[in-house]
Amino acid sequence: MRRPIIAGNWKMHKTVGEAVEFVRSLLTALRDVEGVEVVVCPPAVALKSVGDLLKGSAIGLGAQNMHWEEQGPFTGEISPKMLVDVGCRYVILGHSERRQHFGESDAAVNKKVHAALRWGLIPIVCVGERLEERQAGRTDAVIQTQLKESLAGLDSQEMARVVIAYEPVWAIGTGLPATGEEANRVSGLIRRTLAEWFGEGTAQQVRIQYGGSVSPQNISEFLAQQEIDGALVGGASLHLESFSTIVRAACRKASSSS
Ligand code: 13P
Repeated sequence: MRRPIIAGNWKMHKTVGEAVEFVRSLLTALRDVEGVEVVVCPPAVALKSVGDLLKGSAIGLGAQNMHWEEQGPFTGEISPKMLVDVGCRYVILGHSERRQHFGESDAAVNKKVHAALRWGLIPIVCVGERLEERQAGRTDAVIQTQLKESLAGLDSQEMARVVIAYEPVWAIGTGLPATGEEANRVSGLIRRTLAEWFGEGTAQQVRIQYGGSVSPQNISEFLAQQEIDGALVGGASLHLESFSTIVRAACRKASSSS
């Protein structure tokens, strides 16, 4: 049984003060949560303060990006060593906003995935097609290429630790999520593809999240799908009420299937 994982990607939201206040409330709101991995991914400047608050709690800390080198002349970048140092256990890699606005390639994502695993971080690797790719009937090919290039060179033990987030780009921040059925179909494709490359046993261990306009209203539709093991939540992760409701929905799934 795969353990559901709900991660909040705050993107470029919340000052350090706001982040700390939010996480204090979240710790209280979610203190009895069991059976679900909960992760918050604040902006880099808030990682240390939030990490200190989360120490010893059941909520994990994730970064939204990182460089693959340990240190060096990479102005503006943050290394895996630095993320580990402030208490990160997770790192989102290859988010479509990084691909779109910062030219991040599958090859760069691949270096980051290897670096994250070397440093003991759990990479949350984002894949997803753009609207024009979907309209051209290229969804499956796009996803398979992203997987192939970003996961190149991993062995099956490493692969089992990776979380894949299926985030169709057209569903992000639009209020127009994929249907549960379609998200499940693509997640199934992802799992079958991983099974071909890494073996069925490994593919069955990999958690696949859905992301893109996830809300308290639609989370159950995604969690009800066989191939979907959680969500990567943007906008709805910024508010206590909506994020806690989403986490509680995942708890119900975890307790009903254990
Ligand atoms: P929204 O939930 O705001 O659509 O964002 C999804 C996302 O990009 C999470 O990484």
